[in-house]
Amino acid sequence: DWIMGDYIAEAVQRIREQVGDEEVILGLSGGVDSSVAAALIHRAIGDQLTCVFVDHGLLRLNEGDMVMEMFVGKLHAKVIRVDASEQFLGHLAGVSDPEAKRKIIGREFVEVFKAEASKLTASGASKAGAKWLAQGTIYPDVIESGGAKSKKAVTIKSHHNVGGLPEQLGLKLLEPLRELFKDEVRELGVALGLPADMVYRHPFPGPGLGVRILGAVNKEFADLLRRADAIFIEELRNTPYTGGSLAGANPRKPPKTWYDAVSQAFTVFLPVKSVGVMGDGRTYDYVVALRAVQTSDFMTADWAELPYSLLKTVSGRIINEVRGINRVTYDVSSKPPATIEWE
Ligand code: XMP
Repeated sequence: DWIMGDYIAEAVQRIREQVGDEEVILGLSGGVDSSVAAALIHRAIGDQLTCVFVDHGLLRLNEGDMVMEMFVGKLHAKVIRVDASEQFLGHLAGVSDPEAKRKIIGREFVEVFKAEASKLTASGASKAGAKWLAQGTIYPDVIESGGAKSKKAVTIKSHHNVGGLPEQLGLKLLEPLRELFKDEVRELGVALGLPADMVYRHPFPGPGLGVRILGAVNKEFADLLRRADAIFIEELRNTPYTGGSLAGANPRKPPKTWYDAVSQAFTVFLPVKSVGVMGDGRTYDYVVALRAVQTSDFMTADWAELPYSLLKTVSGRIINEVRGINRVTYDVSSKPPATIEWE
């Protein structure tokens, strides 16, 4: 609508004034905030923006290709895709502690990003070298970091953040979404031409499948999990919402599908084997758990009362289509005392 149109025109003007003819780097994760920031900055300064997309090998099925298709194929933005999956999986090999895994993924992420960024700041792709680092910081992030002192002493899960990066790289910080709430960021994304599917996606943790494969992570487990999870999400998106408990769902937007009716849904890989039967044969394969929750703030959450028919379809498809998984379970734990993610 015209209000959003005005907002975009103003924001574009502000970015142009701030940046002038200098070059900007942005770390694109595929998440909503960095994607909307990239689309907005690209609208303002086009090829003066270079996005760096680090694929840590723990993304969802085809996610990397979809990010490239969106930003390069449709928006014609400059994106450097760094396939660092071997490096990440190498460092994660044999590590089973959840916090240790988070630390490794966070640290490697900063390493890989810094290496790419320093190529762009020195002489690399741009003549002058980039002078700005753009980030998709939104208003709640600003509040959260300001209120850091009042945070609980006990860290249940450390969310990696990339603080201090601009200083380390000697770059100025560009944060065009700093004043916006999440809902506004989403509306802006749609107005900038990003697909609604993408802009209204469930949250996905920075460490990705690294915390959805319990214990030690490897490529075999990640590949199995990606395929199982894609089936679960596809069925949630394809199943019309039929009513039922809706704690915490967005009341302003009645859900059309079960995907929209839940706040977050995903599959967890359990590295245990159980016995099954298929045809004339016995199988001895891995187990996955489906997780779907409804929440308004992610601090507490109820497990979602998905229809049995939906669970039945998903489990049938996973077991038939993903050789290597022969058992599917549904997580009926609320938060607290369980957390949303299993690690
Ligand atoms: P929990 O599992 O603590 O999750 O109930 C609450 C929300 O936070 C997300 N989450 C993370 N996000 N890095 C992230 O960026 C992380 O390490 C991480 N761990 C949990 C989780 O997906 C849920 O939305």
